[in-house]
Amino acid sequence: MSDETLSNLSTETRRFEPPAELAANANVKAEAYDRAEADREAFWAEQAERLDWDQKWDRVLDWDDPPFAKWFVGGRINAAYNCVDRHVEAGKGDKVAIHWVGEPEDDTREITYADLKDQVCQAANALIELGVETGDRVAIYLPMIPETVVAMLACARIGAPHTVVFGGFSADALANRVADCEAKVIITADGGYRRGAPSALKPAVDEAVGKAADLGQKVDKVLVVRRTGQDVAWDEGRDVWWHDSVEKASTEHACEFFDSEHPLYVMYTSGTTGKPKGILHTTGGYLVGTSYTHWAVFDLKADTDVYWCTADVGWVTGHSYMVYGPLSNAVTQVVYEGTPDSPHKGRWWEIIQTYGVTIFYTAPTAIRTFMKWGSDIPAKFDLSSIRVLGSVGEPINPEAYVWYRATIGGDRVPVVDTWWQTETGQIMISPLPGVTAGKPGSAMKALPGIGADVVNDEGEPVPDGSGGFLVLTKPWPAMLRTLWGDDERFKETYWTRFADQGFYFAGDGAKKDEDGDLWLLGRVDDVMNVSGHRLSTTEIESALVSHPKVAEAAVVGAADETTGQAVCAFVILRESAVEEADEPGEGADLVQELRNHVQKEIGAIAKPRQIMIVPELPKTRSGKIMRRLLKDVAEHREVGDVTTLADSTVMDLIKDKEGSGAGSED
Ligand code: PRX
Repeated sequence: MSDETLSNLSTETRRFEPPAELAANANVKAEAYDRAEADREAFWAEQAERLDWDQKWDRVLDWDDPPFAKWFVGGRINAAYNCVDRHVEAGKGDKVAIHWVGEPEDDTREITYADLKDQVCQAANALIELGVETGDRVAIYLPMIPETVVAMLACARIGAPHTVVFGGFSADALANRVADCEAKVIITADGGYRRGAPSALKPAVDEAVGKAADLGQKVDKVLVVRRTGQDVAWDEGRDVWWHDSVEKASTEHACEFFDSEHPLYVMYTSGTTGKPKGILHTTGGYLVGTSYTHWAVFDLKADTDVYWCTADVGWVTGHSYMVYGPLSNAVTQVVYEGTPDSPHKGRWWEIIQTYGVTIFYTAPTAIRTFMKWGSDIPAKFDLSSIRVLGSVGEPINPEAYVWYRATIGGDRVPVVDTWWQTETGQIMISPLPGVTAGKPGSAMKALPGIGADVVNDEGEPVPDGSGGFLVLTKPWPAMLRTLWGDDERFKETYWTRFADQGFYFAGDGAKKDEDGDLWLLGRVDDVMNVSGHRLSTTEIESALVSHPKVAEAAVVGAADETTGQAVCAFVILRESAVEEADEPGEGADLVQELRNHVQKEIGAIAKPRQIMIVPELPKTRSGKIMRRLLKDVAEHREVGDVTTLADSTVMDLIKDKEGSGAGSED
């Protein structure tokens, strides 16, 4: 990372002390850090006591065979019971669990904990009826509707690990995930609402089932929620309506308790190769980690707070901080189906006003979009209920932090910038709202019970004021246990870089400032972060190269004012296509065709913002593409050092093309 980036950060001097009242009544006080440090396992055992166990553990942590961890060994627990039943048993059945807000106006539902229990039991019974057994995998491809939460908890209840696939992913992406984890049931809907219109999901599932079969995985049943009323193709032997099965099933289901290490879910995320990684989370430790951090980081007062996390359930934030963390803590929360601008750009603020949201958790990309839309929009709504604001998914730039705090938080409330990953399962680095004096742009310190550091290439901690690689130095309860079906890749990806020290390599660059506080600086590998979504350069390159007109492709993440990074692709065409592209006007069509191809292969989120057709790519003598130089072009910078290129004139050819308008943006 450049010295320039590092020195820019040291100019940030603004500090925001915790509000006095919040600090006085905070769930977690400063003493927690030392207490956790003194006896980490005792600290996590104490947090595990917040949950209901059918049988307590004999051992907090088994780290005898690193990097394969076992937490709360010998314990037996059910995640759904902890998220639902125990609250009903404690007399909170009438409490609203979910204020659900559909995208079409006035399309709302209130779901109490008692309702949720009935629905989860019904869905559990229906899944069993469909042949799902403990240990079977179930894929979930649904919009943001209550049935999605019900489906996840029903899987957890019967010990069938779920794999939720983001609704924006293509049929191919869904098929690959279904095949990789051998899911035999898919739960989906006819469609969902996006930007004011129904958007179909079932056709992608129909296509994915065929593709999964080609990959050797037979899907026996597809359970379909009717949400939009769109016409759907129907396979009589395979497809089942939710309203014909789940809604007719019994609301009685006696739940079974599973080993603490029983798999809870697999969540696919992009790595540095073309093949997504199936991150495996198990039950006991994951629930302890998410439940505790949700309570600690947001200073949750479950009896009075109204919590809202805007993440889609298709990503890990939706799993940890919309489903398992909040529900295990018996919160009342908002779940919203649609986009922030439908039907007007004040929709989110209107929802906060309507439900009196007190804790709000979103992503920097959304914050920057709202900044662009203007402060006058949120100013029309009463946001005085808010008392804690959270940010997640990418580095929050100081200006966005300050705007968020001032405009949404009325300059009164703390902002917690939370660093974590699909792999970590739980928040790892974050301010504590009642303890930490926040610095705009810094995620501050590892939470109590968490070990994090910044190290150099040799794995030695860097001094304060310097940058390096972020590592996690101690195992933590919600850590991934492995990659689904690939222990070797698990070891290789996270544990070999600093094997001597036994550190987990996060893949992020970071800096320790003069006070030792942490500033996250983005990925140091070939992973991009677009609107807080992780995308692999290699995966998009493979998608491009699978197009018959493409000979070679290189993808970089270029800085983007709103989305953090944007996908920029450089493509070499096959001989036959070069002539076509040279026809007047044809180049733009071809670029569009390639962008659409990526959308079809992976999903709309991976669609390149810009594609440049180039005659050559910059390579070292050993044939490695120098993405750094392409990034310079994509970010309209002076191209850096070209001396290691096999052919140093290549960059001139590429820059010539840049001026010729072969790119495309929309
Ligand atoms: O680069 C970091 C960035 O997002 C990556 C993890 O992405 P994902 O697994 O999709 O999970 C996103 C939601 C937890 C990290 O390696 N990242 C996440 N949160 C932050 C962040 N970068 C800086 N600051 C954050 N608060």
